[in-house]
Amino acid sequence: MTEDVSRTLAPELLDESDLLVESTLRPRSLEEYIGQRDVKANLSVLLTAARGRGEAADHVLLHGPPGLGKTTLATIIARELGVNIRYTSGPAIERAGDLAAILTALDERDVLFIDEIHRLNRAVEEILYPAMEDFALDVMIGKGPSARSLRLSLKPFTIVGATTRVGRISSPLRDRFGATYRLDFYEEAELRAIVERSARILEVPIELDAAAAIATRGRGTPRIVNRLLKRVRDYAQVHGDGTVDRATAHQAMRALEIDDEGLDATDRKLLAAIIQKFASGPVGVAAIAAVLSEEVETVEDVYEPFLLRLGFLDRTPSGRVATEAARQHLAKLGYEIPPARRPEPEMAALWELGEPEGLDDELEALDDEPEPPFEPGSDPEESSPA
Ligand SMILES: Nc1ncnc2c1ncn2[C@@H]1O[C@H](COP(=O)(O)OP(=O)(O)O)[C@@H](O)[C@H]1O
Ligand SMILES: [Mg+2]
Repeated sequence: MTEDVSRTLAPELLDESDLLVESTLRPRSLEEYIGQRDVKANLSVLLTAARGRGEAADHVLLHGPPGLGKTTLATIIARELGVNIRYTSGPAIERAGDLAAILTALDERDVLFIDEIHRLNRAVEEILYPAMEDFALDVMIGKGPSARSLRLSLKPFTIVGATTRVGRISSPLRDRFGATYRLDFYEEAELRAIVERSARILEVPIELDAAAAIATRGRGTPRIVNRLLKRVRDYAQVHGDGTVDRATAHQAMRALEIDDEGLDATDRKLLAAIIQKFASGPVGVAAIAAVLSEEVETVEDVYEPFLLRLGFLDRTPSGRVATEAARQHLAKLGYEIPPARRPEPEMAALWELGEPEGLDDELEALDDEPEPPFEPGSDPEESSPA
């Protein structure tokens, strides 16, 4: 188990014990898979139709933040089709030959799962196009002027691709997927159901309001609620009689520095940096990443999606902005909140709405008023707050 308290809320996989628990908790059928109702409904039609025709299912692209169930869904797709699944990932396939070897080894109608498919390199991607479209493999024989290309046929198969960044996938690759599904953060009631299911499987005695407390702080992410459940179970074993009730759940999460909105120390550090160092923004993501000593990609994929969803963060053309809700949340926790630099929200609303009725009259009325005298040094643009 990881000892790093600050990583409890990380939506990525952390270590082998994580992986082991995940495989025991993983739902094995669409029916067991909680939430994502639209995705399940559409996928169920696609799979039933393919099964009925006895054909390989269309290629499926799954995208969404980490920990929401993409790998789980790929496994379920293969199970529901009654075929084998082979797992690989974009960075793992280094050369075109690696992919050719994988593809030729697939059995008829098998599923090939490619995680992080946006990280496939160009040469590999080019092998994938004819493979997905025509189940054909184009191999080059020889070199130089005598080189020629030979087309081999493959048994029909299904690619299930997963990515956290659908925008990074080239459009020719994206076009070759027959179906694309976006996984979204889970509702609290769904997360509660996931906690209760996991507690049953792990044989953890848990009270209903404790499950609810974990669900609220689980950042809309099944992987995180499962991890919180494990940490809370440990806490209950050490500090109580092993039963997870509301009080133990709350104490355990306080010990993990998780606040009532489900933010951990890094989230608060991110928001505090924008609010205190950059006058609540707008500020570029590179500057935020530098303050946190994280990669820009990590900030964008791991920290921002949940803060955006909570309404604590806004992405604007000129950079990230900490919202009034974020300022209030941190103020409640005792953070110092300097004034925001950005224009008054009422002004911004005026620009967005265009010209509201009555504005002309107000402007005309303004024209009648004398201009305030210009004072050097009083230009608000020049005196930005520290
Ligand atoms: N819909 C769901 N219902 C129940 N548990 C889920 C669901 N989606 C994900 N999980 C749990 O969350 C864990 C992480 O899911 P995973 O498929 O690995 O996410 P991703 O591949 O999107 O990062 C799984 O081990 C599984 O236990
Ligand atoms: Mg995954």
